[in-house]
Amino acid sequence: MASPTHADYDFVVVSNRLPVDRVIGPDGDESWTRSPGGLVTALEPVMREADGAWVGWAGQADVVIEPFENDGIHIVPVVLSDYDIQNYYEGFSNDTLWPLYHDVIAPPSYHREWWENYVLVNQRFADATAAVAAQNAVVWVQDYQLQLVPQMLRDSRPDLTIGFFNHIPFPPYEIYSQLPWRSQILDGLLGADVIGFQRIADAGNFSRAVRRLTNHATKHTSIEVAAAHQRSRRVIARSFPISIDTKSFEELAREPRIQERAKEIREGLGSPKTVMLGVDRLDYTKGIGHRLKAFGELLAEGRLSVEDVTLVQVASPSRERVAAYMQLRDEIELTVGRINGDFGTMSHQAVSYHHHGYPRDEMVALYLAADVLLVTALRDGMNLVAKEYVASRFDDDGVLVLSEFTGASDELKRALLVNPHDIEGLKDAIVQAVEMPQRDRTARMRAMRKRVLENDVQRWSSNFLETLELARKGRYDRNEPMELPDELEWTVDRRWTT
Ligand code: G6P
Repeated sequence: MASPTHADYDFVVVSNRLPVDRVIGPDGDESWTRSPGGLVTALEPVMREADGAWVGWAGQADVVIEPFENDGIHIVPVVLSDYDIQNYYEGFSNDTLWPLYHDVIAPPSYHREWWENYVLVNQRFADATAAVAAQNAVVWVQDYQLQLVPQMLRDSRPDLTIGFFNHIPFPPYEIYSQLPWRSQILDGLLGADVIGFQRIADAGNFSRAVRRLTNHATKHTSIEVAAAHQRSRRVIARSFPISIDTKSFEELAREPRIQERAKEIREGLGSPKTVMLGVDRLDYTKGIGHRLKAFGELLAEGRLSVEDVTLVQVASPSRERVAAYMQLRDEIELTVGRINGDFGTMSHQAVSYHHHGYPRDEMVALYLAADVLLVTALRDGMNLVAKEYVASRFDDDGVLVLSEFTGASDELKRALLVNPHDIEGLKDAIVQAVEMPQRDRTARMRAMRKRVLENDVQRWSSNFLETLELARKGRYDRNEPMELPDELEWTVDRRWTT
């Protein structure tokens, strides 16, 4: 296949991970599989439609691959060495920024060599992007691993329009200010024309950090970035809650073979009255331990019985060389083993635990098989699993128990909202979910489905890109208030001057 020539693409997405992973089979044959994580799921359909390029890492050390085309997406691989993976990816991205931005649930580590490598690798991503972006192209940089890329790109390519979207939370200033490189990160982000966040609260936290650490004036959702001897530049920072490719989940769920598979799954579990489901990357932000604790106590107290209720926990492997993740895996697997040892019978397991990722077909079958989905994250930018469950339930059935510390809880108000730290409250919500009458289940699921069907990932990306276009033309209304009504309104027309 011909490689794309440089400076060809009018739309470029940049993310740490490519939407595909390189897999070498036992015979040395090369193939590409979809990467895990919500980001890829969210952006793949957008990229196909836009016919752009995607700059990112192929998921393995020192693999040099020429740009290529995969399933309608132009792929531009960036090489990471083993040192880069240890310092930029596992270190600064996932052992400094990840825990810091998730409310320091795990303690962040600060190492100067990690930071130095983060700067270096961000520059590599910026250079690879500058090399493929056409004159006046739109570039959309994704997530916390690449926060310096916007300003690096602005320095080398002032002709570009640059968007940045942070998929994870942006922490309150009192937490953010721990970061030894807090000013450099803000300067990096402020190179963008539009900086998007999941929640209104995240955008607010960011603006507050800008006010505390820089001299730039902020008003509502806009920031006037002053530079010596130049006119100030307007940067927009506001929320754009991400979503999923809703229709494709519903379409899959409507397929008879998927419904058949859902039945098989229930039968395989011993046909319990209630199947509860948890689906997460094995990450300490997801509150898997809290969920297991609540479930174990309910069984111990006899409020739930192992004959009636099974919890299926899918925990997909993630960042397995980072110490906090290894420790988490040990803790979770010990707890699952204890619960099963204490409460399992010959015919019924309490927890059906799976340490793998599954293809989308199997996930949708699981969503259909599950009477209750438990999302108990201690902090989560959005949580797309909650939206996937809702999208799949075309039968208007199923109960969502949802942590109020997820971005999704801003929109899915008809879920049973829980504080996962409050184990008694979580237990009550689980029992309420198991016992919820059909009418109540239907009413709640219908309301949530309306929301997720209206606000899908196409809408998210077009809202972001329209805002980027308004910013480029200097037609953004700087009086846009930061606080939006409780019910987030998606129509840009009402809120932007045209
Ligand atoms: C989260 C992050 C993504 C990341 C994904 C998977 O969703 O926001 O940026 O790609 O987790 O994590 P990994 O470290 O495997 O890329």
